[in-house]
Amino acid sequence: MDISQGSVLVTGGAGGFGGATARRLAKLGARVVLADVADERGRALADELGNGATYVRTDIMSEESIEAAVAAAVALAPLRAVVIAHGGPPPPVVGGRVVARDGSRLPLANFTHLINVYLNTAFSVSSIAAEAMAKSDPLADKQRGVIVNTASIAGFEGQVGQVAYGAAKGGIISLALNMARDLAPVGIRSMAIAPGTFLTHAFDGMGRDKAQETFGPLVLNPKRMGEPDEYALLAEQIIVNDFLNGTTIRLDGGQRF
Ligand SMILES: NC(=O)c1ccc[n+]([C@@H]2O[C@H](COP(=O)([O-])OP(=O)(O)OC[C@H]3O[C@@H](n4cnc5c(N)ncnc54)[C@H](O)[C@@H]3O)[C@@H](O)[C@H]2O)c1
Repeated sequence: MDISQGSVLVTGGAGGFGGATARRLAKLGARVVLADVADERGRALADELGNGATYVRTDIMSEESIEAAVAAAVALAPLRAVVIAHGGPPPPVVGGRVVARDGSRLPLANFTHLINVYLNTAFSVSSIAAEAMAKSDPLADKQRGVIVNTASIAGFEGQVGQVAYGAAKGGIISLALNMARDLAPVGIRSMAIAPGTFLTHAFDGMGRDKAQETFGPLVLNPKRMGEPDEYALLAEQIIVNDFLNGTTIRLDGGQRF
């Protein structure tokens, strides 16, 4: 897929994965729309990228907000790619294990919230972007666009306390092929990346050194956390390589626990 004459939408565009991917896609010539709620980081990155890059404040929990971000991308150029890499608000009730040490079960509100943040919003962005892509003129080979979702190795091997997050990411893994099948007639591909443990803003609270010390040794080889640009490199390859479709690629240095 040649995105040099098109636009791309990156949710979580001011974040670790989103920001690194936006940098690569801007270098390919695409008009990049950064959708996020981190206004300062988003605006600074849009300025850095140039080439018509725009930050659009987008609350991923609102379909109206997502629609506005997609419309902003379409206004720049035909939408050719969407990279879905956002976080979201913390759950209204804390929780982790199905049954906690005090004997109480995980509140449904916690489970539902995480499914909403990581799975339902990914479907919203995917379907709203696909609707816009389907209306565009196709490129060579009848290709119109590509959707890149972010799963997690927790979608394959969820850890203790990750039942809701793991289920949401398992859903993303399932979406990859289902959406590829549904969208094939309109020339749209669907893929997902399942990252292991990466040093992004998600670990700002913990501190980079502490995060590296804690999670680096869990990786088989190399013994360190992933760098956001390693995710971006794969996202770029998925976008430009028309033969990647309908699957989830693990990106985890061989980590299996
Ligand atoms: N970092 C990892 O180790 C890792 C591993 C597997 C999967 N993931 C997944 O990668 C995705 C991106 O995470 P990241 O590690 O780049 O984190 P990050 O914190 O660097 O980026 C997430 C971005 O989402 C934005 N965001 C938060 N709430 C939002 C909202 N309501 N609307 C729009 N944007 C919002 C944040 O402002 C931030 O810029 C997430 O889906 C996460 O589950 C991360």
